[in-house]
Amino acid sequence: MSESVKLSVIYYSATGTGTEIAREIAETAEKEGAEVRLRRAAELAPAEAIASNPAWAANAEATKGIPEATPDDIVWADAVVFGSPTRYGNVASQLKQFIDQLGPQWGQGLLADKVYSGFTSSATLHGGQESTLLALSHTFYHFGGIIVPPGYTDGSKFADGNPYGTSHVDAQGNNPVDETTRTAARVQARRVVRVARALKADSSL
Ligand SMILES: Cc1cc2nc3c(=O)[nH]c(=O)nc-3n(C[C@H](O)[C@H](O)[C@H](O)COP(=O)(O)O)c2cc1C
Repeated sequence: MSESVKLSVIYYSATGTGTEIAREIAETAEKEGAEVRLRRAAELAPAEAIASNPAWAANAEATKGIPEATPDDIVWADAVVFGSPTRYGNVASQLKQFIDQLGPQWGQGLLADKVYSGFTSSATLHGGQESTLLALSHTFYHFGGIIVPPGYTDGSKFADGNPYGTSHVDAQGNNPVDETTRTAARVQARRVVRVARALKADSSL
C-alpha cells in the first residue's frame, strides 16, 4: 500500500471559531486516510487580554492539549492547511509570527512543492474573509506551494459561497460553527488530501 498523505493543520484562533473548523478539517482528513498533525500558532497576546474575554480564555484552556506549531510541522507534511481569523481583513499576527520564522526552511527549499490551502472566520459577512484568504495565499506563492482552493467543486459550495476556502461568520460569538461551515471544511479537507495523494503518487515532482 502507498504511504499515506501527511497533512498539517496549522491555525490560530482566539475565541474558538477557528478551533472548530481546524478540528473538522483534521478529523475529515484522518477519515480520508491522511496522517494528521493539528497544531496551533503560539499565543502572543498578554495574559490580561486573554483573561478579559471569556471566550478567549475558554478557548485557550480548551486547546492547551494541541501542540504549538513548529517549522518541522510543515517540512514533514505533504499538505498544509492554514487557518486564521480575519484581523482587519488580514492574517492574525500570531499565525504571521509563525510564518515569519520559516525563513531558514524557505531558504533551503523545504516549503516548496506541497499542497497549501486556507480557512478563516470573521464577525461580519463582508468583513474581509476573502482578503484574509488571499493574503495567506501570497505566502503560499513565495513558498512555491501548490495552492488548492475548494472552488465550486461541490454542490455545497453554492450554499457556503466561498471558493477561496472554508469561512464562517461568527457574529461576535452569536453564530457558532454550523453544518454549512462544517460541510465546507469537509469538502476542502477531502480535496486537499486527494490532490496531495495524486501529487505524491507522481514521483516526477
Ligand atoms: C483585532 C481584531 C480585528 C478584527 N477584524 C475583523 C474584521 O476586519 N472583520 C470582521 O468581520 N471581523 C473582525 N474581527 C472578528 C474576528 O475575525 C472574528 O470574530 C473571528 O471569527 C474570530 O475567530 P476565532 O474565534 O477563531 O478567534 C476582528 C477581531 C479582532 C479581535
